[in-house]
Amino acid sequence: MGDLSISALWAVIGLPVSLLSLLYFVLNRRKDVVLQDKVVFITGASSGLGEALAEAFHLCGCKVVIAGRNADKLEELKNRLESRKEDHHHSPVVCVLDLEDDELSEKVHQAVGNVWGRVDILINNAGMSYRGSVAETKPEVDKKLMAVNHFGHIEITKAILPYMVKQRSGHIVCVSSVQGKLPIPHRSAYAASKHAIQAYFDSLRAEVDHQGIRVCVVSPYYIRTNLSLNALSADGSAYGKVDQTTKNGYDPHFVAKKIINCVQQRQDELILAPFYVKLAICLRVLAPWLYFKMMARRARKELVMNNNLNKIK
Ligand SMILES: NC(=O)c1ccc[n+]([C@@H]2O[C@H](COP(=O)([O-])OP(=O)(O)OC[C@H]3O[C@@H](n4cnc5c(N)ncnc54)[C@H](OP(=O)(O)O)[C@@H]3O)[C@@H](O)[C@H]2O)c1
Repeated sequence: MGDLSISALWAVIGLPVSLLSLLYFVLNRRKDVVLQDKVVFITGASSGLGEALAEAFHLCGCKVVIAGRNADKLEELKNRLESRKEDHHHSPVVCVLDLEDDELSEKVHQAVGNVWGRVDILINNAGMSYRGSVAETKPEVDKKLMAVNHFGHIEITKAILPYMVKQRSGHIVCVSSVQGKLPIPHRSAYAASKHAIQAYFDSLRAEVDHQGIRVCVVSPYYIRTNLSLNALSADGSAYGKVDQTTKNGYDPHFVAKKIINCVQQRQDELILAPFYVKLAICLRVLAPWLYFKMMARRARKELVMNNNLNKIK
């Protein structure tokens, strides 16, 4: 009986998993991409993960275009990277843009067309977060989150795609979040914008595969950056706090290294999260009712905590 159940377990779980792993290795067996001299366009390069990505790609000998709203911070980063003075390092190009700009495409063409005339890797990294309940959140806040985290990336991607199609090569990386797979309470607008990015770029991946263009969606867990500090509250004001979860998050340089590995190995997806979070992603698919119960419990707990905080204030 014991032998029979082990054989049955192997047939049901072990065999399919082994076959899928074998298929994965056969289909993905390729040489690593060489990054030296590749043109990399990075949005949100003025801080946090974007800044770490700019440093890491520049260190690999890439020609980086560092994009963002804050010209001073971008110039400061450019000067810091230039001061490395290694032979294989290129001078970065600054591209000042707001993802909500009407002239987003023109700004991208000016930065890319006038300098290197090509883009090998696009990193859609810029983003903003949010805290609040659906009932209290102003519609402008919901719209802003979608404008920055979703429509801005789409417009930049559409501006850069023709370069990649002409080259018949390229890699588009989208920095989403585990919240693009797992919605949690009091983050509705953020989770929705990240789900939208996931779906959009999953569609794009299939469409451009025959043109030699790869698409990778990265879904990290918390990263130690200013994201929560700059997050919007329900009324549109800045949340202004660095949450403990963020303080305990991944080092942005570690995440940047993982993203570089993804590009080198032409990966389609990266979920950078602890095991229990990956388990929750599976749970959302396999037993949604249980996931919904857990999230409702979490929402009630957060409500009690907020009420207690308000009493102290
Ligand atoms: N930190 C986390 O826990 C975490 C977890 C998962 C995923 N992520 C994702 O990682 C990405 C990077 O965020 P981060 O953690 O590095 O936070 P961050 O330090 O706040 O960086 C966000 C970047 O986005 C830029 N940005 C924001 N709004 C913009 C706009 N309208 N136009 C152009 N640029 C804009 C900011 O530029 P300014 O200097 O102009 O404000 C900044 O460079 C985001 O997509 C975020 O959703 C973060």
